[in-house]
Amino acid sequence: MNRMLVTGAAGFIGANFVRYWLAAYPDDHITVVDALTYAGNRANLDGLLSERCVLVEANINDTELMMQLLRDHGLTTVVHFAAESHVDRSIEGPDAFIEANILGTHSLLKAARQVWQTEAHAPADHRFHHVSTDEVYGSLSMDAPAFTELTAYAPNSPYSASKAASDFLVRSYHHTYGLNVTTSNCSNNYGPFHFPEKLIPLIIINLLHGKSLPIYGDGKNIRDWLFVEDHARGIEKVLNHGTIGETYNIGGVNEWTNIDIVSLVCQLMNERFKTDESLRSRFPECPAASERDCAQLITYVKDRAGHDFRYAIDTTRIRDELGYEPAVSFEKGIELTLDWYLENQPWWQAVLDGSYRDTDT
Ligand code: NAD
Ligand code: DAU
Repeated sequence: MNRMLVTGAAGFIGANFVRYWLAAYPDDHITVVDALTYAGNRANLDGLLSERCVLVEANINDTELMMQLLRDHGLTTVVHFAAESHVDRSIEGPDAFIEANILGTHSLLKAARQVWQTEAHAPADHRFHHVSTDEVYGSLSMDAPAFTELTAYAPNSPYSASKAASDFLVRSYHHTYGLNVTTSNCSNNYGPFHFPEKLIPLIIINLLHGKSLPIYGDGKNIRDWLFVEDHARGIEKVLNHGTIGETYNIGGVNEWTNIDIVSLVCQLMNERFKTDESLRSRFPECPAASERDCAQLITYVKDRAGHDFRYAIDTTRIRDELGYEPAVSFEKGIELTLDWYLENQPWWQAVLDGSYRDTDT
C-alpha cells in the first residue's frame, strides 16, 4: 500500500494521473495538494475524492504545511505536477513561473528532505518523482535527432527555463543529500480536462462557437503528441521500476505540424456533424452546422515570441529499460478527446464563464 502526495492534481495531467492511479491501485491513498490557480479546477477531481483521496487546497511554497502533510498523512511518495504550465503566459509574465516552478519545487524538496531524511520517524523508503517537460531541451531543426536523456538542456522560454531549473534542483537533492528522486520529461499531452488555452481544446471549443482558429506563424512548428493517460502509464513505470537518480523521456513518437493537427480536428468535426444531427442545434455557429467546412476558420496570426520549432522524443530508454509503450494510438486518442469535449460541455462552459472558480460548487 502506497501513500502518495500528488501536487497539482486539480490540473490537466495530475487529475488524469490520479484517476488512473486510483483505479489501478485500489489499496493506495492519495493526498492531492493544489493551490487552485486559474488552471486548477475542483471538477477535474469529480468522483475521485473520498477517504482514499483527499484534496488539500494549499500552495507548495508553504514548506511547513508540506512537511506537516508528509508527517500527518504518512506519505512516502511525492508525484510533483504542480506548476505554471502555459508558455504564452510565461512570455507575458515570468514571475509566477519562477515562484511556482523553481521556488515551489525547492520548497517541496526541502520538506521531503526534512521529513524523510532527518526526522526520528523517517520512513524506511521514499520517492520524489518530478514531472517535467521536453521543452527543457530547446528546439530541434527538421532533420535533427530526437531528444534523448543525454541531450544538453537549452530552454528558450521563461516556462522551459523555470522547468529546467527545477529539474536541476531535483537532481542536486539526489547527488548532495541522497534524496530518492526520479524525473520524467514528457512531450505534449492531449485528452480530457485539458485547459482551453492550449492548442487542441482551444481549437475544439472555438470551432463549436464559429470562432477563428489562431495558428501562430506559418503553422509549420512541430510537436510530439501523447494521450494523457499514456503519460500516467509512463510515470507508473518510472515509479515502479525506474532507477533512483535517473531521468526518463516519455513521448508518443507522434510528430505533427500545428496546421496538420488543426486541419485534422476540423475534418473530424465536419464528420461528427454529419453523423450526429443533434450537434447542429447545440452548436449552430459551427460552420459544420450549415454544411460548411470547419477549416474555413483557420486564421494565421502573429507568431509566439521565441517559438520553438520542433520537439521530438527518443523513447529508447523508457521502452528498453522499463518496457514502456503508449497504449492509445493517436487516431483513437484524438477521437476520444473530441468526443469528451462534445459530451462535457458543462465542464468547459464553466471554465469559459469563470464559474468553475466558485468555491461552493
Ligand atoms: P496545468 O496548468 O493544467 O495544471 C497545473 C496545476 O498546478 C493546477 O491545478 C494549478 O492549480 C496547480 N498549481 C500551480 N501552482 C501551484 C502551487 N504553487 N501550489 C500548488 N498547486 C499549484 O498543467 P498540466 O498541463 O497538467 O501540467 C502538469 C505538469 O506536467 C507541469 O509540471 C508541466 O510542466 C508538466 N508537463 C506538461 C505537459 C503538457 O503537455 N501539458 C507536458 C509535459 C510536462
Ligand atoms: O512539450 C511539452 C509542453 O507542451 C508542456 O511542457 C507545456 O506545459 C504545454 O503547455 C505544451 O506546450 P506548447 O507550447 O507546445 O503547447 P500549446 O498548446 O500552447 O501550443 C502547441 C503548439 O501550437 C505550439 O507550437 C504553439 C501553437 N499554438 C498554440 C496556441 C495556444 C498556436 O498555433 N495557436 C494557439 O492558439
